[in-house]
Amino acid sequence: MVSRAVEAIRLRSDLQPRLAVVTGSGLADIAERVTDATTLSYQDIPGYPVSTVEGHPGELVLGHLGETPVVIARGRCHLYEGYSPVEVTFGVRMMRGLGAETLVVTNAAGGLAPEFRAGDVMVIADHLFFPGMAGSNPLVGPNDEAVGPRFPGMWNAYDPVLRVEAKQALGRARFAVHEGVYAMVTGPSFETPAEARALRVLGADAVGMSTAPEVVAARHMGMRVVGFSLITNRVRLEPPSLDGGLAADLHEEVMSVGLSAAGRLAQALEEICRAL
Ligand code: HPA
Repeated sequence: MVSRAVEAIRLRSDLQPRLAVVTGSGLADIAERVTDATTLSYQDIPGYPVSTVEGHPGELVLGHLGETPVVIARGRCHLYEGYSPVEVTFGVRMMRGLGAETLVVTNAAGGLAPEFRAGDVMVIADHLFFPGMAGSNPLVGPNDEAVGPRFPGMWNAYDPVLRVEAKQALGRARFAVHEGVYAMVTGPSFETPAEARALRVLGADAVGMSTAPEVVAARHMGMRVVGFSLITNRVRLEPPSLDGGLAADLHEEVMSVGLSAAGRLAQALEEICRAL
């Protein structure tokens, strides 16, 4: 399946990307900085699952950021849309098939750590992959030893050197930068206060509905990984009081913080990509 997709892309571009980028909610602006770009709609790539979420445009962009040949998956699909973990990781496998050796993943996440504010960025140091631990792991099923090992280690999933570079580039783009643990939940419902407190007790600093499957697949294939979360909202740890009123629409909050940070985030991402 992946090889058919790679062949279809090869008919449009012979670029050998070194770097693969996956962009999350509202973070797709980076693709506009790519020079000599070839853009393919996911619909035109055989086997590529097409995201149904607003704010995830769904196209693959091949070209250069500075000197670095890159492939950017602009928009991703999620477990909560009904896609399987294998489908969710199709794009990363395909980008590896095109030649990419390093993966940069971005997402929007809710902040759990008390010092996190909306608009901050968290470089991902480690993750809690709850669906994966409970059976929705993209590596479940027969393993192809030619692709990667049956039992890949994940203790060093997020590259320590790339993390330092990411933090510096994000700081230069004037973000408040943190490092922490990303918890992936399936969604699409946001966390209850009790769930949010449970995640915090388990060591999570931010929570979102993506990224961990892609990282596991990338590490299975031996790619270096760096990832960061735009903190779009604070997750409420306490239930509403009687006079608390109704909470704002969280999806709208996520999208609007994404949009307002998009330019600076694209700038930082471009710097990270150029440095790799
Ligand atoms: N929870 C889960 N996923 C999210 C959130 C959140 O608060 N914000 C953005 N993605």
